Amino acid sequence: MTGKTSSNTPKTALCVALDMPDAEEAARLVTALKDEIDMVKIGMELFYAAGETGYRQIAATGLPVFLDLKLHDIPNTVSRAMRALMRLDPPPALVNVHAAGGAAMMAAAKEAAAGRCRVIAVTVLTALDAADLRAIGCDPALNSADLVLRRARLAQDSGLDGVVCSPREVATVKQACGPNFLTVVPGIRPAGAETGDQKRVATPRGAAEAGADIIVVGRPITQAADPVQAARAIRAELA
Ligand code: C5P
Repeated sequence: MTGKTSSNTPKTALCVALDMPDAEEAARLVTALKDEIDMVKIGMELFYAAGETGYRQIAATGLPVFLDLKLHDIPNTVSRAMRALMRLDPPPALVNVHAAGGAAMMAAAKEAAAGRCRVIAVTVLTALDAADLRAIGCDPALNSADLVLRRARLAQDSGLDGVVCSPREVATVKQACGPNFLTVVPGIRPAGAETGDQKRVATPRGAAEAGADIIVVGRPITQAADPVQAARAIRAELA
């Protein structure tokens, strides 16, 4: 799913990050937001807390699920984890791995998904800036955009369907990897919103103009006084 395609609906899809431990609360939120969003993201917090039962509760709302577990281990372990995830019913629409796990790991993940869902790679977390990357030993001559591009190319060469990248790198990734290589973009902050722990951010419109296929928005919607209104305002920016 890469967004709506009719002329009056946005090309950039809106995915809400359900970063909360309680599946009932998450399912209630999704039911309220259903008409304003295109996809939901279940991350580590919700999946570890609520497991398969929680996953099924969310999937029952009918929206496609992005299962954001950021797998990162040796190829054999990631392959077996992916096989286990593919037994979820219904299967998620998207699952991700860390590109830092390397080409063999990414290829193993894709093979294990066996066409049941799209597999994408996290390039560089949007909470990391140049100083953080230096601190974890990345080549200081490579800025975050270079690193994202290098990892996006590696993900594509490993057979993956796309990447998670920050709004600032979408246009370069699209240029290098082609229009069909999916870009899933967190680090979205409506003008004036708190950035929190995110560092490489942009507004919903900025990300859409850069060519993002799917934007992932968490706190600006889930922590809003009126989440439905917040989602609607973001949707309006994407149109
Ligand atoms: O609340 P916020 O809008 O910052 O949420 C962003 C979501 O996107 C979080 O669930 C986070 O785990 C996820 N994410 C990210 N950066 C990545 C990959 C995923 O922020 N590179």
